[in-house]
Amino acid sequence: MSSATARWRQAWHAVVAGDVDLSAAVGSVTLPNPVLAASGTAGHADELGAYVALDRLGAVVVKSLAAEPWPGNPAPRVRETPGGMLNSVGLQGPGIDAWLRDDLGRLLGSGARVVVSVWGRRVADFETVARRLADGLSEVTGPGSVVAVEVNVSCPNVEDRRRMFAHSPTATAEAVAAVGAGCPALPRWAKLSPNVADLAEVAGAAYGAGAEAVTLVNTVLGLSVDVARRRVALGSGAAGGGLSGPAVLPVAVRSVFDVRAAFPDAGIVGVGGVTDVSGALQLVMAGADAVGVGTATLRDPRATARLVGALERWCRAEGVRSLGEVRGAAHG
Ligand SMILES: Cc1cc2nc3c(=O)[nH]c(=O)nc-3n(C[C@H](O)[C@H](O)[C@H](O)COP(=O)(O)O)c2cc1C
Repeated sequence: MSSATARWRQAWHAVVAGDVDLSAAVGSVTLPNPVLAASGTAGHADELGAYVALDRLGAVVVKSLAAEPWPGNPAPRVRETPGGMLNSVGLQGPGIDAWLRDDLGRLLGSGARVVVSVWGRRVADFETVARRLADGLSEVTGPGSVVAVEVNVSCPNVEDRRRMFAHSPTATAEAVAAVGAGCPALPRWAKLSPNVADLAEVAGAAYGAGAEAVTLVNTVLGLSVDVARRRVALGSGAAGGGLSGPAVLPVAVRSVFDVRAAFPDAGIVGVGGVTDVSGALQLVMAGADAVGVGTATLRDPRATARLVGALERWCRAEGVRSLGEVRGAAHG
């Protein structure tokens, strides 16, 4: 039998059986499918629920929260670029206490599986925000659940000349450990920056400090100049912004590929530039257990839900019963 015939038969069996299993395991967390709304692009609460049934997504990662309210950067904060966008929102947020009081209930009411992203400006801040999260969680209930905490180390460390935590394996490990001390009950994922010489080393530090997964990647450092004004375009000035969208897909694929090669069994969430099923599958075949969608949601608020459907259709058409069959396939 030719390979084309074999593939056709497989596809036919999957269609007849109708039982594609999209479930995804990220460390100890099992999700019904691998599609996540990425941090910062789905609001703090159930904003996306107007467009997408949030309980149909693998999980919703909320915008990063600090221990205290944070105003973010001056406007302008976003700028279109070829193949993507730059943002300098600067982690604006209400602080963890207000979020627990005002937002989490609405999000859990949607039935979503929630990943709480946290950040800090010094190591101790990570422990504080995590402790307040742990203390406040039992007060809020709903059909949904909080399944993990994402430690966003892609932010400036004021104790290290404002160098990003994620640019240092030691600072990354300290932040991940601090969140574990503050909130020992939740699995930890570490959200890393691609702007490092050896990403596998940083990922290893995060795993070593107790992270069950790493989320790869946060935005790529960038800067844009407003030629008419002869000035840096974003309000953050010389600090620039973070590049996201289709332009960064190969950066994310490379990051996932390298970390999967170094850690064959560890949890990896791939994020960066996914707009369609092909981009998501590139990340899965590079080794991602789940896939985040960020900037695509800003263009089309239904992008995450569409991707779940597209993955299911792709599996049926290819005779793939579970994404586990193709996860890491690119490693040969
Ligand atoms: C407007 C905007 C805000 C973001 N805010 C956060 C954030 O608060 N925390 C975080 O970890 N990542 C944040 N990100 C990064 C995204 O979660 C994602 O890692 C990145 O944009 C790459 O994925 P994408 O190309 O699909 O957007 C933000 C991205 C954008 C575009």
